[in-house]
Formats: sequence, C-alpha cells, structure tokens
Amino acid sequence: MVKGNKTVAVFGLGFVGLTTALGFAETGCKVYGIDVDEARKESLRNGIIPFHEPHMGEILKRHLGQNFLITDAISDAVQKSTYIFYCVGTPYGIDGSANLTYLFSAIDSTLEAIHDEKFRVLVTKSTIPPSTTAEKILPYVKKSCDKAECVGIANNPEFLREGHCWEDFTEADRIVLGVNDEKSKALLIELYEPMGIPIKCVSHSTGEFIKYLSNTLLATLISYSNEMAEAAEAFGGIEVAEAFCILHMDKRWNNCNMTSYVYPGCGYGGYCLPKDTSAFYAQAEAKGFDAQILKQVIRTNTERPQWIAEQIGRHLGQSSGTVGILGLSFKPGSDDVRDTPAVKIIQELKKLGHQDIIAYDPIAMDEFQQKYPDIEIRYAESLTKVYDESDILVIVTAWEEFRLTPTLGDKEIIDCRYML
Ligand SMILES: NC(=O)c1ccc[n+]([C@@H]2O[C@H](COP(=O)([O-])OP(=O)(O)OC[C@H]3O[C@@H](n4cnc5c(N)ncnc54)[C@H](O)[C@@H]3O)[C@@H](O)[C@H]2O)c1
Repeated sequence: MVKGNKTVAVFGLGFVGLTTALGFAETGCKVYGIDVDEARKESLRNGIIPFHEPHMGEILKRHLGQNFLITDAISDAVQKSTYIFYCVGTPYGIDGSANLTYLFSAIDSTLEAIHDEKFRVLVTKSTIPPSTTAEKILPYVKKSCDKAECVGIANNPEFLREGHCWEDFTEADRIVLGVNDEKSKALLIELYEPMGIPIKCVSHSTGEFIKYLSNTLLATLISYSNEMAEAAEAFGGIEVAEAFCILHMDKRWNNCNMTSYVYPGCGYGGYCLPKDTSAFYAQAEAKGFDAQILKQVIRTNTERPQWIAEQIGRHLGQSSGTVGILGLSFKPGSDDVRDTPAVKIIQELKKLGHQDIIAYDPIAMDEFQQKYPDIEIRYAESLTKVYDESDILVIVTAWEEFRLTPTLGDKEIIDCRYML
C-alpha cells in the first residue's frame, strides 16, 4: 500500500471500527481509536482482539503504539484529526427503527472538542437509514457547533463480512462516499485513493440507501430460499438441498459468491441483516411507504425458528429425549451470537416442552453463555461429547466439522443447514 500522512480518529472499535482504524494505519495514517467499552480497550491495548476475526491479531500488533493509538483523550484526538469516523453500533430502536443514540453521543464528543478553524470531515460509517445525514446529522451539527462552517459531513457505508473483515476492507469492491460538499469529497478521495479501490461519490441519502439495498436484498434471498424450502417440505418427496445446488448450476449463478444466500437455512441472523431490514422497513413506513416485500421477508425470518422447532418436535414425538444443538454462532467462522437463530430455536424448543438441551459450538460457547445467561442449556466441550449425550442432533450453524456427525454413529440428525 502507498503511504500517506493523514490523521484519523475512529469512534467505536468493534468489527467495523477496528478494521477501519487498522486499515488506515496500514496506509500510513496516524489513527486514534476511541471506545467507551473499557474491557474492549484493555484487551486491544494488550494486543488481543476481543472477538474472533482472522488476521486482525497480527495487524493490531504491527500498528499498536505506532500508527494506531488507543486513546481516552478524545479532545486531543479530534483536534489533531482531519477525518473523524463513526463506527459505533446502531442497534434496534423503538418499533424496529435504528437507534442513533451512540452515534449522536460520539458526534457530541467530537463537537465539544472543535474550537478552531481547521476543516474536518465527520464521516458516518455506521449503518444509518436513508435521510439520516440530511435530516438529522447536518441540522444537528449546524445547530450545536459554532464552527459548523469548518465541518464537512459525509457517510461511507461499510460492506465487510464478519470473518473476512480485513480482506473485505482492504480489497473492497467499491468505496461509497455519501458526500455533498467539494472539500469533504476531495479529502475523502485523497484518503482512500492509495487503496486503489473504485470510489463512487453520491448524495448523502444515496450513500445510506446503497447499504440497505445490499442488506435487504441478501435478507430477501435468504427468506425466499427458506420459504421455498418450507413449500418443498409441504409438497413432500423433494430433495431440497439437491434442488438448490442444481439451481446454482445455472450459468447466471455459477461461480457466484451469492449462492450461499440462495440456500435454505435457519434464517438470517447476526448483527446486521435483522436490524437493518427492520430499520429500513420502519424508516420507509415513517415516510408513508409500506414496503410489502420486505414486510414478508421479515415475517418469514421471524417465523423460521418456530417452523424448525416444530420439525424437530415432530421427529422427537412424545419422547422427552435430549436435543443436541450443533452451532450457536449466527454463521460459521464467527463467534458473533447477536441475533443468532440458535437462541430462537432453543426458545421455541423449550416452548414445545423440550427442556433438556445440550449445545456445542467450536468457538462461540463463551459468547453465547455471556450474552444469554438466562437460556438454560448444557454445553458440551466437543462434537463427540454432544453426540454421546443427545438423542437427536440438530445442525444449526454450518461449521465444516459438523459434516463428520454421521460418521459418529446412527443417531438421527436434523440438518437445518442442508449441508450433509
Ligand atoms: N458487523 C458487521 O459485519 C458490519 C458490517 C457493515 C456495517 N456494520 C455497521 O457498522 C456499525 C458498527 O458495527 P460493529 O459490528 O462494528 O459494532 P460493534 O458492536 O462490534 O462495535 C461498536 C463499538 O462502538 C462502541 N461505542 C458505542 N458508543 C460509543 C461512543 N459514544 N464513543 C466511542 N465508542 C462507542 C462500542 O463500545 C463498541 O465497541 C453498525 O452500524 C453496523 O450496522 C457492521
């Protein structure tokens, strides 16, 4: 990568913020990392990534204390920086809309530190619904900052996938800049140009919309696949996995990385698709538009865990046997359990009276236990152990090692990921 000499402050050091901070450090920028989570900062200061993300450990060690500084001196970091990136969470708010509290709290911390005439650009990388920059952030900054004329406002949606954060950031397909003023645009192009990735400059609302266009399409493909799989089960006699694999042989799909989204499973989960489909629907509704397809996409996804639990219940019959859950993270290669289908499937099983549940996940068991302390299940330390202790097994996350399950014996396996 080409070296630069720019100064950047990044608010929020999660999947997106840490990747962004280290990505700019790699291009030679001086980067200040800011977070409100003391445990997360402590871990990072010790060179430990607080979540599972390949390659990031080595990259953190390379830049920590050099181009990347984790700081509590927010004013100092903002004053020294030309670029202020917001990578804080935007979780579910009231009625499924996006909760912008963390974003505005980070903007407040920024504005409190700005007293000079230096031009800075405030860039939202967090996912925010269309019209947020124009209708909320811009007026807020204008009202709250007496140096507002020295502040540029932009958004820069992030498309990385957890488990692939580093390559998705450094080898991104495109960089989207939602930017309306020429000064901010020129600064941002200068920052990103060394990465050699196509840059598309669009209006504020277009920048925000593109991110939802992407996530709502992925969610739609997943719900479509699940609905078709449920229809196939209702018809009977259909080899569901085989049918989808044959669909993928079409030249229009072949060798396309999207095929994993056009395949039945447990429904979309994780941090982004559930909250982003919901936030987009809520924002459209607030603007007087009822997004009918999206409404059904969300409904199909919400009802999927119950459908799966009922299938498991049918196989178990009246027996009060032990159910072995294989996989707790929302997808393989990740220890993220936010909005994971596993939790909803377990809850539905319990509602149906199947209380004895034992689970195994190669890397996400600690996260799951911490995030869902009220979910009463047992945990097994290995695939063999969960196999031995269960009467029936259910594949919930498509971890590669679960392909070995049938070789362990002849217990019944319900393959909710259609991977066997
Ligand atoms: N995770 C993904 O795959 C992904 C991909 C693309 C976009 N996004 C979007 O990026 C944003 C961040 O996602 P994430 O997965 O990195 O979240 P995360 O929960 O992993 O990290 C967010 C961080 O922000 C910190 N934070 C909260 N308030 C703060 C404040 N006022 N000042 C400083 N730090 C603060 C939190 O402590 C946390 O460490 C979200 O809007 C998300 O939708 C996420």
